[in-house]
Amino acid sequence: MKLSVVILAAGQGTRMKSDRPKVLHPLLGKPLVAYAVETARALTAAPPVLVVGHGADAVRQAVGDSARFVVQEEQRGTGHAVLKARDLLREEADLVLVTYGDMPLLTEATLRRLVERQRENSGPLTLLTLTDENPRGFGRIIRGADGGVRAIVEEAVATPEQLAIRELNAGVYCFDAGWLWEHVDAIPLSLPKEEYYLTDLVGMAVAEGRRVEAVVAADRTEALGINTRVHLAEAAAVLRRRINERWMLAGVTLVDPATTYIEPTVTIGRDTTIWPNTHLRGATVIGTWCDIGPNTVIVDCEIGNRCRVTASVLEQAVMEDESDIGPFGHLRKGARLGRGAHMGNFGEMKNSTLGPGAKMGHFSYLGDAEVGARANIGAGTITCNYDGVRKHKTVIGEGAFIGSDTMLIAPVRVGAGAKTGAGAVVTHDIPAGAVAYGVPARVKPSDEEE
Ligand code: UD1
Ligand code: MG
Repeated sequence: MKLSVVILAAGQGTRMKSDRPKVLHPLLGKPLVAYAVETARALTAAPPVLVVGHGADAVRQAVGDSARFVVQEEQRGTGHAVLKARDLLREEADLVLVTYGDMPLLTEATLRRLVERQRENSGPLTLLTLTDENPRGFGRIIRGADGGVRAIVEEAVATPEQLAIRELNAGVYCFDAGWLWEHVDAIPLSLPKEEYYLTDLVGMAVAEGRRVEAVVAADRTEALGINTRVHLAEAAAVLRRRINERWMLAGVTLVDPATTYIEPTVTIGRDTTIWPNTHLRGATVIGTWCDIGPNTVIVDCEIGNRCRVTASVLEQAVMEDESDIGPFGHLRKGARLGRGAHMGNFGEMKNSTLGPGAKMGHFSYLGDAEVGARANIGAGTITCNYDGVRKHKTVIGEGAFIGSDTMLIAPVRVGAGAKTGAGAVVTHDIPAGAVAYGVPARVKPSDEEE
């Protein structure tokens, strides 16, 4: 049986108090709606249909072609929103799953259970429920003597007995497609909000003598919908805990999971240890047996095996096996530490490579530079790569020894095995094996050598 997914995301999200559409608020680096779209894509090949309204253009742009879109100009209720998808989906599938764009914690496994139950259900729909002592304004589930669902009662119109019910409507449903498309435009208008409630389909099915099934979510946090920034932080905490547990069970030591922030897009090798207050973000990949942190931010980086990163910030950089950085290092876009390379305190690199085994121990800046294997960059060395208009390249050969406080005025080349004296300002290329010193640096004649 073929499945289509409809994701409702037209609401304004007034309670976020934001100029940004609610479903575009980021949760661990991804917009809320991306979670719903990704889960939908895992369930069925057909891209989900996103019902958009408030901030439609921005949502469309953020989601791109991983979904199809229909616009609900006026938000006249969840039933009205689903109706908007009818033209697009009427002929597509036998089952329709309806979820929300603001429920990022729903898991693929739970939605699969819901769809499976509806496949077996002789009736027209199955809904997802949860039991929770805190009803959060959710609709209450009324069950009949046979265990089937009789109705969903919205909080605003519930009697005191109904309000005491702790089985709640998550707002996620799997429908028989033919039945849904036939009935969705027959939902009566509900007062006083003058909305068409999708929940009324339950009563309509029951009135026809049909069976409505419910699947109870194993974990109530799955139905945590985001309405306020408080909810956003709660959802982030749940998601972080899930991610952290997954990595610990996969063999990664998190010294303090409560202060470890790993985005869902990150991967980490086993026997790596993550120290407290570390943020691993974006497309970051970390190898095995590394020590990362404490107090570290890594965004979109590739880190090999047996590397160490202490109290540093790394962005779009690469660290090869056994290299190390920190404390207080900064790798910017295009920085690369070769195998076993060492970068100590207060270093910064941008668009530069430190070759295998090269060392840059203290207070240095490398921009647009290529440093050969085993070279030593003395304390305070700076590549002066910018002339105010353009950026220029510095090349330092293998085994070169750059004296403390050397200024390398790019473009410039220092040959393999060459040396510079402390405080040299290098304006011209230095041949391999030569020694240059002074301001501006002059190459020492070879007969002066001992
Ligand atoms: C709905 C359910 C309630 C359930 C709760 C769970 C109804 C009538 N009630 O209530 O039983 O417990 O969800 O969260 O369905 N939306 C649109 N267009 C609209 C209206 C809503 O796209 O015209 C979207 C919203 O963006 C949101 C979702 O549908 O993502 C839910 O709408 P909302 O108005 O928040 O419904 P609730 O009152 O929370
Ligand atoms: Mg809501």
